[in-house]
Amino acid sequence: MIVFKEKALLTEHLSVFWSQKKTLGFVPTMGALHNGHLSLIEKSYTHNDYTIISIFVNPTQFNNSEDLEKYPRTLDSDVEKITSKFKNCIIFAPSVDDIYEGKTNSTHYDYDGIENEMEGKHRPGHFDGVGTIVKKLFEIVKPNNAYFGEKDFQQLQIVKKLVQKNNLSVSIIGCDIYREENGLAMSSRNERLSVLSRNHAALIYKILKQTKIMFGTKSASEITKWVEKELKKDSLITLEYFEIADIETLKGCLRKSKQKKYRAFIAVFIDNIRLIDNISLN
Ligand code: PAF
Repeated sequence: MIVFKEKALLTEHLSVFWSQKKTLGFVPTMGALHNGHLSLIEKSYTHNDYTIISIFVNPTQFNNSEDLEKYPRTLDSDVEKITSKFKNCIIFAPSVDDIYEGKTNSTHYDYDGIENEMEGKHRPGHFDGVGTIVKKLFEIVKPNNAYFGEKDFQQLQIVKKLVQKNNLSVSIIGCDIYREENGLAMSSRNERLSVLSRNHAALIYKILKQTKIMFGTKSASEITKWVEKELKKDSLITLEYFEIADIETLKGCLRKSKQKKYRAFIAVFIDNIRLIDNISLN
């Protein structure tokens, strides 16, 4: 296991891999690793000759400075978690300066409008920050395959567009959402939830599962009203948005079409901590 903190040293090391024509799998993360991340690493580890994991809390994708400040930074335990399960992985944990070279700005990307839906509406600039860092990391690592969790489904679609629009030669692999025993989608932010909030947060997935059942017989707007009513009953949860959207355009579903695939997306606040989740409906 090698941990690189500078991109120059990493690329010098990787040049050997690139020339060997072996497959390089990449798992970009912001650290505070949980079993969801470990499942992505596992996938990469099984399907590639080498795996590289980046750990970098990317400042340009935070639209809320308090969220950035409070984001857990746990490099030592992250390295420990990876080493105890996987042999021969490479970890890349650069500094903000090394990545942004004094200009901590994001580039604006056009993702055919999917950047303006849901998370894009509620976190202005977020996807520009994600696109900027993911492109930079892809250019440094030059992976064959990169692994992203479906909890951030909109991010996954954004990354696929980024690759397509910039002709990047990397395959993007979406991986199933990994859940805690009570159904809560795994997220680094869960670390900040109290035991009580964590128990309340189980309601998110219960509601999503119910929306999947309802989708067979009810319209998107009937389901949305039901979700709003159910969540109002919980004293700790504040709904930011619930939306049933077409998985390609991420536009809200006005009338169901048999030709399209839909997902239900949700964002809530519990104890001032923002959690997102989603479920496939058909
Ligand atoms: O999903 C994340 O952890 C981040 O958005 C990513 C993809 C590592 C970019 O900073």
